[in-house]
Amino acid sequence: MPSQKRPGSTRRLRRADGLLARYGPWAVVTGASDGIGAACADLLAAAGFDVVLVARRQDVLERLAAGLRAQHDVDVVVVACDLSSAAGVERLFAATAELDVGLLVAAAGFGTTGCFVDNDVADEVAMVDLNCRAVVEAAHHYGRSFTRRGRGGIVVFSSIVAFQGVPNTATYAATKAFVQSFAEGIRPELKAAGVDVLVSAPGPVASGFAARADMEVGSAADPADVARATLDALGRRTTVRPGARSKLLGWLLSTAPRRVRTAILTKIIGGFIRHQPPA
Ligand SMILES: NC(=O)c1ccc[n+]([C@@H]2O[C@H](COP(=O)([O-])OP(=O)(O)OC[C@H]3O[C@@H](n4cnc5c(N)ncnc54)[C@H](OP(=O)(O)O)[C@@H]3O)[C@@H](O)[C@H]2O)c1
Repeated sequence: MPSQKRPGSTRRLRRADGLLARYGPWAVVTGASDGIGAACADLLAAAGFDVVLVARRQDVLERLAAGLRAQHDVDVVVVACDLSSAAGVERLFAATAELDVGLLVAAAGFGTTGCFVDNDVADEVAMVDLNCRAVVEAAHHYGRSFTRRGRGGIVVFSSIVAFQGVPNTATYAATKAFVQSFAEGIRPELKAAGVDVLVSAPGPVASGFAARADMEVGSAADPADVARATLDALGRRTTVRPGARSKLLGWLLSTAPRRVRTAILTKIIGGFIRHQPPA
């Protein structure tokens, strides 16, 4: 017997009912223990989605799951796994095999800062695995199933750093360039099958991201605002720049030649890095 759904608070997502009808009943949200992913999970549960919360920290996910069940009367499944490993990705697919998943929000990701050759190569490769390989695997796995069922949505995250090379966060910027290009490429392919693809390119967001990247970001967007602007744009466009700051910065950068964009981002990111590289 399918559970009786309470539609949840429609004031939180502008198109809550439409999203649930088009992409429900289950949403898989990676990176759900913090920041943008946690905010997406909250908004989706408020819209009536049953949600699969994915990240490494099981205790945090269990706590969030209990809150979502109590607040929104939805089903929540927790999958604690490391998506930078093939085994972790397989665990996610196995855990969702019996669920009618119609939406993938692939928010798990991290960045590093500092001179590339001074960084631990294992971290750089784990970042490529999480930010790129896991995104490709999940988009392929769920995208295939969405095309079979004739509807679905895939949301991935690039960044303002995705549109040019950026020193002192070179690998991260390259992973985000990959995600941006990947989403632009698969969107028209999947459109005909009724599957929407959206890439969100935020500027700085106040989340756990900066601490893990060893950055200190002065002024940053609220993850809930970024999540809301992102989910509201699904099915409407290819790329969303959530928030006024990322829109303005994106527009300013788009008018500049690539090497100038690199110079501007070098300054911006350089100002965020805690452990400044030697001059
Ligand atoms: N914050 C920004 O300024 C910003 C700007 C532009 C784009 N973005 C992008 O937006 C997305 C979300 O970032 P955020 O700001 O929400 O970051 P965040 O607050 O640091 O959250 C990252 C999430 O990913 C999970 N995660 C990290 N490593 C993982 C792994 N190996 N396996 C599974 N889950 C893992 C984390 O949970 P666990 O630690 O529990 O695993 C956490 O839930 C990322 O793709 C990021 O690159 C962020």
